[in-house]
Amino acid sequence: MALLDIFKSKNQKKTEQKTQKPKERPQKQLNVYQLEPGPFEILSDEERDQLEQKFLQILNVVDKGTIYIQASKTKYQYEDEEYEVLFNKFYLITEANLDYPKGELTRKKVKRALPRYVILEDNTLAQAAVFYKFPDLAPEGMLFEYFGLGDIVIKWESLDPVSAASAVDRSRKRLESLGSTDSIIIRKLEKVKQLQAIVGGQAKLLRLWAYLIIYGQNEAELKQKFMQARIIARSRLFDLDIPVFYQKALYNLETSVASFIPFTNTVKPVYVDTITASWEFYPLISEDLIDADGIFLGFSDSGSPVLFNPYMRNNHNIVILGETGSGKSMTLKILLKRMKEKYKIKIWGIDPENEYVKLAEILGFKGIVVQRGTKLGLDPVLMAKINVLNPEDIAELLAEFYLPDDIALRNRLRAAVFDVYDESSDLFDLIERIKNQDEQIYKYLEAAKTPPDVYIFEAEDKLETTENIVFGLREISGQGATRLKALITTLLAAIFQREAFSNREKGFVFVDEGWLFVNYPITMALLENLSRRARKYSKGLIFATQRPADVVNNDSGRTILEQSATVFLLRQRSQSLQVLKQTFALRDEEAQELLQAEPGHGILRTGNYLLRLYVQPSKEEFEAFKTTGEW
Ligand SMILES: Nc1ncnc2c1ncn2[C@@H]1O[C@H](COP(=O)(O)OP(=O)(O)OP(=O)(O)O)[C@@H](O)[C@H]1O
Ligand SMILES: [Mg+2]
Repeated sequence: MALLDIFKSKNQKKTEQKTQKPKERPQKQLNVYQLEPGPFEILSDEERDQLEQKFLQILNVVDKGTIYIQASKTKYQYEDEEYEVLFNKFYLITEANLDYPKGELTRKKVKRALPRYVILEDNTLAQAAVFYKFPDLAPEGMLFEYFGLGDIVIKWESLDPVSAASAVDRSRKRLESLGSTDSIIIRKLEKVKQLQAIVGGQAKLLRLWAYLIIYGQNEAELKQKFMQARIIARSRLFDLDIPVFYQKALYNLETSVASFIPFTNTVKPVYVDTITASWEFYPLISEDLIDADGIFLGFSDSGSPVLFNPYMRNNHNIVILGETGSGKSMTLKILLKRMKEKYKIKIWGIDPENEYVKLAEILGFKGIVVQRGTKLGLDPVLMAKINVLNPEDIAELLAEFYLPDDIALRNRLRAAVFDVYDESSDLFDLIERIKNQDEQIYKYLEAAKTPPDVYIFEAEDKLETTENIVFGLREISGQGATRLKALITTLLAAIFQREAFSNREKGFVFVDEGWLFVNYPITMALLENLSRRARKYSKGLIFATQRPADVVNNDSGRTILEQSATVFLLRQRSQSLQVLKQTFALRDEEAQELLQAEPGHGILRTGNYLLRLYVQPSKEEFEAFKTTGEW
């Protein structure tokens, strides 16, 4: 494997001016820097502008440079399955001394040069295809579309200092001449005008080459890849060409050959100002998320594995949003299973559809199926005695679940609870004591003493909640079932929180079908509280629900969302489009795409990352976790 010694020898041959052969230049050390890519495609306009601004600085500072994007492939193994993984490494090669980490670029050597391709040392073939005929307005970050087809080279030299003003002016005139109402043109024109007014002095004019290096086992493979690239290029109104006799030079990252015939020794460059180049040729794009020590989630749309480590975010909470059948529960189960394997997480869960309780063994927790008549012993007064709740909570809870929405009544209930709480031995005792205080309030609370509510509070044995426990609530059905589920969830959430916050071992509380609870402020307030404080105890909340509106239009829901560094957006309904775009700063295309997403496909936002993702279950996971056809 050979490296950059190629450059050193080639540099001497460089014939930059067509008219005059330069003398051998004193050889300067070429530096290879490693550049850090990031998400781009689905960023907002403002976020893109910021990245392009940074790239613009590189173009302005580096008079002569090459960006080399090396496509790499590796295998990724999860369980017994092996996946092919594509990823890119980004290098900047220049004589300039810059403040970037040094990198090491390893490439195969050329064994033999043919007119249309080169043969490499391992007998594979490589072919350089140069982009040309750019349209007046090429798309931002347009080279990203070719990532994965081969390596990408962007090479530039700044021309003799062109006055800043004129370079910017050129760019402005060009944009203005397009005279379009297209939003991107307007946006870029604004940007150019701003630059002209403020930092115009930094702009330069470049001679630039952009090309693709395609690899193949044989000519047929080269041809097939070239055609693929060309189809994309033509759909964008520019083209790709294979310069004959320049193949070796291009492979070696040179754009000229020694030739005796003037004007034929250089691959034709594009002339472009640094500002335009900073968006059209913006290269540092990677939709990949590869967290150190992360769990495997699936694949980004560039084919890279997504490795996710919730502990690398500033909180561990996760929200999963997607309509029925979009794969929320599958995603949640995969998260639990893999986090259990990797981080040994403790699990506490609310399972409204009894999907998780039957996975108790696989996911490593105790599953409790709550049936009609199961006595749960979730007595709020007893819970208050052990500081899981306080008298204030008891009043809130009783008001929420037993009183009509009437402030006067609620205040009377609160007063009554405070009066009798101290001498009450349990909830039923407290209710009896309230009878003497306030007959009308008592009438409302009587419902707590009769089925089905009574079972929630009554105990057969002491309720045994420990860590690693999930409650299945599906059997609670019929009229008033949602209310009962919310009541149980509220009490369980309080107990879960107490257990989860009793130490700093890793763990997650999860709530599936969160929409069931969004109309119960006290339930949501408890979950909100959990999400706010969880991080301190190395815990997190995973909250899955159907519509973004469930969380966005709900005070506590909104807080949970804000407290969640990680959000999975799976398939959505069109009614959610507006909320989605506003809340998650999605571009229109991405929001639209979510309307048609297949199960498990969607967008992951975690920390600063934003990427399209497919959550990939292994075969066994899929079989164990799927729900279709079961009811
Ligand atoms: N990542 C995935 N890959 C392949 N198929 C999937 C994936 N996720 C879900 N599915 C398929 O879609 C079905 C529904 O998924 P899931 O139960 O997770 O949806 P959901 O969003 O939880 O729906 P609901 O709101 O009805 O609970 C699964 O049974 C499975 O067949
Ligand atoms: Mg589900």
